[in-house]
Amino acid sequence: MCHLLTVCVTGRQRLTVWFTRLEPMRRIQTMSALVLFVTMFLIFFYSTLHLETAHSLRTGQEDLLKQPSLQVHDGDGKAQPSKRERFTTPPPRQERFTTPPLVVLNLSVSDGLTQAIPQNGAYWNRLLYSALKNLVKGHFIWRDSDWSLCRQTNQEHLQTNVHDFTSYPVLFQDFVQGMNCMSPPVLLNQPNKCISGQGKQDNQTFLLFTIKSTPGNFEQRQVVRETWGQEGVYLSGLRVRTVFLLGSSSLEDPDLSALLSFEAKHFGDLLQWDFHESLLNLTLKMNMFLQWTVRYCPAASFVFSGDDDVFVNTPTLLGYLQSLELPKASQLYVGQVISEASPLRDPKNKYYIPLSFYDGPYPGYAGGGGFIISGALLPRLYAASRVIPFFPIDDVYVGMCIKALGVTPEANTDFQTFDINEKDRNNLCINKKLILIHRRSARQIKKLWKGIHNPLLTC
Ligand SMILES: *[C@@H]1O[C@H](CO)[C@@H](O)[C@H](O)[C@H]1NC(C)=O
Ligand SMILES: *[C@@H]1O[C@H](CO)[C@@H](O)[C@H](O)[C@H]1NC(C)=O
Repeated sequence: MCHLLTVCVTGRQRLTVWFTRLEPMRRIQTMSALVLFVTMFLIFFYSTLHLETAHSLRTGQEDLLKQPSLQVHDGDGKAQPSKRERFTTPPPRQERFTTPPLVVLNLSVSDGLTQAIPQNGAYWNRLLYSALKNLVKGHFIWRDSDWSLCRQTNQEHLQTNVHDFTSYPVLFQDFVQGMNCMSPPVLLNQPNKCISGQGKQDNQTFLLFTIKSTPGNFEQRQVVRETWGQEGVYLSGLRVRTVFLLGSSSLEDPDLSALLSFEAKHFGDLLQWDFHESLLNLTLKMNMFLQWTVRYCPAASFVFSGDDDVFVNTPTLLGYLQSLELPKASQLYVGQVISEASPLRDPKNKYYIPLSFYDGPYPGYAGGGGFIISGALLPRLYAASRVIPFFPIDDVYVGMCIKALGVTPEANTDFQTFDINEKDRNNLCINKKLILIHRRSARQIKKLWKGIHNPLLTC
């Protein structure tokens, strides 16, 4: 480096000496020639640079269009290397190359994910491994397609990829067709949720409650506002904020939009997107929650995700979160952890997953009734959710994305997403120690909240 610099300096000195020796007229001519030369060089340099970028973009796209042949498993899971099936990725017009945010560029998927989820012939497994292959090759494809074009309506394409597609339950078929749909229109937003406040140093949010609700659940939302989801500054100055996440009701349902828009103005806590509320759309809702939080509440220390029919003991929860030390506090994914679950194969079950769709166990995940994630994890989690294909069960999906980050779920028995023993349900002392209980009616929530805050309660 030093050597190069020396050469440069002496070179320039020589040039100056030669230049000053020239006559004035010649000096102007030489100067013009020099300027011309430099300009030409710069133009040439920039055009090659541009070509190179265009080329690398194109190679990325071509690779996406390639149809890798993948190994197919037969019914009992034995590999059949001889039988190969063509696996087509969605038509290219549906992919849009938008500038990927920086977080994607830093995303490296942990080996834990590929150790936990086998590579085999099931549709989702193939989609995952295809996405990971592209990621490894450095093709950062920010999955984001036009909402009006994202649905896969080509039946032939679906049946080529999933041989028994037509035997899937109707709603499951609907899910598979919409797996690439991840940019629903926003109906209600609260862009200032985490920056507006009375005080000056109010930008800090210690805990953000994001609560999955549905348009008609007015009463449940109100009881949450009056009890555990109450916004404000709690003990030792910890700020809590709350938003409810809503989809849209279907055309067969009564139109609640006027009521919702009043509610949103009055309480300032509704977020709504234009997709139909349904069990199999909860992963989309989860993705919208991640996107919204990364964008509008990036400084939140902890984020809660859960249902509107749970009871949360907010003071106990805040005490627990405050007691955490770094690095745990910045890598937290805590709840009731289900560590050894597998897909349910009974088509009548609400969580049915066909074998030809997903084949493998579920990585450990926190029950979706209510769990907590460190705010610091969210940008990477959101990036992972744009690489890992949507899975129809939202809490299992979060577990998969968390696995991709190499984070281990933290099991905490104070999160009771499957409820507690019947005999303990009215025992206030037992309730007071817990952090989360699923599920409780609006009245039960009010009663419990009053009960555990009663100063006369001695445990
Ligand atoms: C709060 O956040 C906004 C937007 O990020 C910023 O412009 C403002 O300066 C912050 N205010 C304080 C007091 O930190
Ligand atoms: C999810 O929402 C979209 C958009 O409203 C809808 O077309 C689709 O039917 C919904 N999916 C399911 C499985 O209900």
